Amino acid sequence: MATKIEAVQGDITKLAVDAIVNAANSSLLGGGGVDGAIHRVAGPELLAECRQLNGCDTGEAKITKGYRLLAKYVIHTVGPIWRGGHDNEPQLLASCYANSLQLAAEHQLLSIAFPAISTGVYGYPIEQATEVAITEAKKFTEQETSLEEIIFCCFSDADLATYHKVLAY
Ligand code: APR
Repeated sequence: MATKIEAVQGDITKLAVDAIVNAANSSLLGGGGVDGAIHRVAGPELLAECRQLNGCDTGEAKITKGYRLLAKYVIHTVGPIWRGGHDNEPQLLASCYANSLQLAAEHQLLSIAFPAISTGVYGYPIEQATEVAITEAKKFTEQETSLEEIIFCCFSDADLATYHKVLAY
């Protein structure tokens, strides 16, 4: 069946999906932004499990349980810090989405929600980041997968408008 790709506005910690994706840093030991929100809602067991993972390289993804979150799993990925776009940022951001989707499919998950990775503290321009995200999602759904739903959860209305604009192409 075709995988549905959609964008919504809201707080990703409130989504009842199989996995939510965390825009983490390479230590995987929490932070601000969506990372802080996810750890706050998931509770201390999430950090305890993350400590066992020995960090995560930029572009890579690792999976943990969701604990007190509605989501069963959290897929932690580390986006690139924007340095002008000539330091492999697009490829690294694409890897975040591709590796997170791959991990979800390996766990036979049906639904996954992404925040706008790297577009906050890491400064990646939202329009360019959105194009990378949607390109990777569409590429992934060309193959057979357990995933029935890919949700882009935008925190702001402005980001949602960007996602809708890019999705409309
Ligand atoms: N739900 C959905 N999206 C959210 C939420 C939330 N509760 N909170 C923030 N966001 C959005 C931001 O508005 C932004 O669009 O997530 C996007 C990513 O922003 P950041 O959380 O700042 O993540 P990023 O830019 O990838 O920077 C990662 O920030 O929090 C630290 O530990 C993290 O060092 C890492 C860095």
